[in-house]
Amino acid sequence: MQDYGSKVVAVTGAANGIGRELARRFAAAGAGLALADIDADHLEALRTELTAGGTDVLTAVFDVRDAEAMEDFARRTYDVYGAVDLFFNNAGVISVGTVWEQPLADWDWLLDVNVKGLVHGIKAFVPRMIAQNTPCRIVDTASIAGLLAVENSPAYVASKFAALSLTEVLDLQLQAAGSKVTAHVVCPGVVRTDLDNCLRHRDPGRYDPDDPYYKTDDHRSRFAVVTRSIPVGMPVDEAVTVVVDELEKGTFCIFTHPMYNPAVTGRTAALVAGSRPARVAR
Ligand SMILES: NC(=O)c1ccc[n+]([C@@H]2O[C@H](COP(=O)([O-])OP(=O)(O)OC[C@H]3O[C@@H](n4cnc5c(N)ncnc54)[C@H](O)[C@@H]3O)[C@@H](O)[C@H]2O)c1
Repeated sequence: MQDYGSKVVAVTGAANGIGRELARRFAAAGAGLALADIDADHLEALRTELTAGGTDVLTAVFDVRDAEAMEDFARRTYDVYGAVDLFFNNAGVISVGTVWEQPLADWDWLLDVNVKGLVHGIKAFVPRMIAQNTPCRIVDTASIAGLLAVENSPAYVASKFAALSLTEVLDLQLQAAGSKVTAHVVCPGVVRTDLDNCLRHRDPGRYDPDDPYYKTDDHRSRFAVVTRSIPVGMPVDEAVTVVVDELEKGTFCIFTHPMYNPAVTGRTAALVAGSRPARVAR
């Protein structure tokens, strides 16, 4: 890993999982950090750990659905550090269901966190990064579910297809503007994080936890796919090593699990051939 001694790295979704591992990795490489999350306790634990190791850490507790709070995070980060070299737009959540039964509140939550949250990060950080006029990177986290239609999680898949295409458009527009900022997108396969516990972030005032759909066998069995798979996913440090290595090479779209590459090209070929999507046993 390169030396990040004079660099500043900002991360959303920093309190757990991939975001926390990114924070630890860049702290060890000497960067100053700006870390945001909705999870105040885990973010504070990370701040304590990293400052004890001598890292400069600014923290902000907010929901990425709140555009003003994101703007405030960017403003504070620039006030303190004067620049941002890497911004990881990483916070995200997952849900399951059928397209026709999942409550609309699930769709609002997923799309607001996983898509609008990215837009809020881009709007807050990218103009400042462009004005900075130094080579710097914005890194959105999508998923392999941004390239392959995972049957279990329609809102998640829709949000991650959106995240990937949003980042492509962002990079095209940065090129067109002649900016030194480059956009990148991370498409992990299953990684061992806290993602299967993400329901705890839901605001009970904004959905009905007693919605009858959540009590159905269909919903239970679909959610079991998530709770079974995440704890046996790729260790998070391995995934973050791939992310850091590929970013240092300048890779636009970063895959942590190249085993899915044939499926990605196969999907495109099937679409062009006019075939129906092929089901995969879950
Ligand atoms: N773990 C996987 O298998 C996997 C696979 C593909 C993509 N991803 C993506 O990686 C990213 C990081 O997820 P993770 O796997 O590390 O999960 P995680 O739950 O361990 O970490 C996500 C972090 O985002 C925070 N967060 C959730 N909602 C938030 C909100 N509204 N506002 C602010 N912070 C919020 C959580 O508190 C948590 O700290 C997500 O975008 C996720 O979709 C994960």
